[in-house]
Amino acid sequence: MTRIIMHGCNGAMGQVISGLVAQDPEAGIVAGIDISDTKKNDYPVFASLKDCNVEADVIIDFASAKAEDALLDYCAKTGMPVVVCTTGLSPEQVEKVSETAKTAPVLRSANMSLGVNVLLKLVQEAAQVLASAGFDIEILEKHHNQKVDAPSGTALALADSINEAMGGIYHYKYDRSTERVKRDQKEIGIQAVRGGTIVGEHDVIFAGKDEVITFNHTAYSKAIFGKGAVEAAKFLAGKQPGLYTMKDVIG
Ligand SMILES: NC(=O)c1ccc[n+]([C@@H]2O[C@H](COP(=O)([O-])OP(=O)(O)OC[C@H]3O[C@@H](n4cnc5c(N)ncnc54)[C@H](O)[C@@H]3O)[C@@H](O)[C@H]2O)c1
Repeated sequence: MTRIIMHGCNGAMGQVISGLVAQDPEAGIVAGIDISDTKKNDYPVFASLKDCNVEADVIIDFASAKAEDALLDYCAKTGMPVVVCTTGLSPEQVEKVSETAKTAPVLRSANMSLGVNVLLKLVQEAAQVLASAGFDIEILEKHHNQKVDAPSGTALALADSINEAMGGIYHYKYDRSTERVKRDQKEIGIQAVRGGTIVGEHDVIFAGKDEVITFNHTAYSKAIFGKGAVEAAKFLAGKQPGLYTMKDVIG
């Protein structure tokens, strides 16, 4: 059984993961770390990692960028594997993640969903065949009306993934209303829809002559990120120091 310390255990994702792990015979949360004590958990909760004296195999981190430096210092010092899911890290913190990976196994991903990470691979394979055959590529993403950034980080990651596989030939087009020109073959159009409570939907459209292939990923709840994080934790426990990604988890 993989013994997990849940960093940020009383937050939205910490609680999602507590629920998922409670149903998982291969994993268990042995301790939680959180500065808030608003939730009841069936494991001990400590205010900081240095107060925690419970033996564990891996840390899952869904907390706050403000908490990241202390977490990384702890892992660098102890060699404890860590799955970093917290977003909004500064460039210095991203650098510190790489430094930490010299003495501890570290896996970091801005999107922990297994489905999205498989999609990132699938669109590369599709682009290599279809883009070369003249198919146009468009990405449509839909999110709830509370989201302030657009396009989504995942839409950009999908475009980047395709671009990487195609040798960086594409530029991205976010708005076609400002000029009257036909689309360029070397562009990926990225459009955002905002409304209601849509958790997250991404369509990657390959449009060719008389045929269209659409890859769709729909998120129905935040549990998809939790599921991916737990799989990543099982993967990372016992690994050698180094920087890992979700690509390593899905193989
Ligand atoms: N990588 C992904 O796929 C993915 C998916 C969802 C959320 N996230 C990110 O994960 C993070 C957490 O998301 P959330 O929705 O659970 O947020 P949240 O605000 O609900 O929970 C964060 C928790 O961290 C705790 N915390 C804050 N500072 C702390 C510290 N110094 N030490 C210990 N605990 C501390 C808070 O008290 C809170 O309980 C955010 O950065 C979010 O963007 C990433």
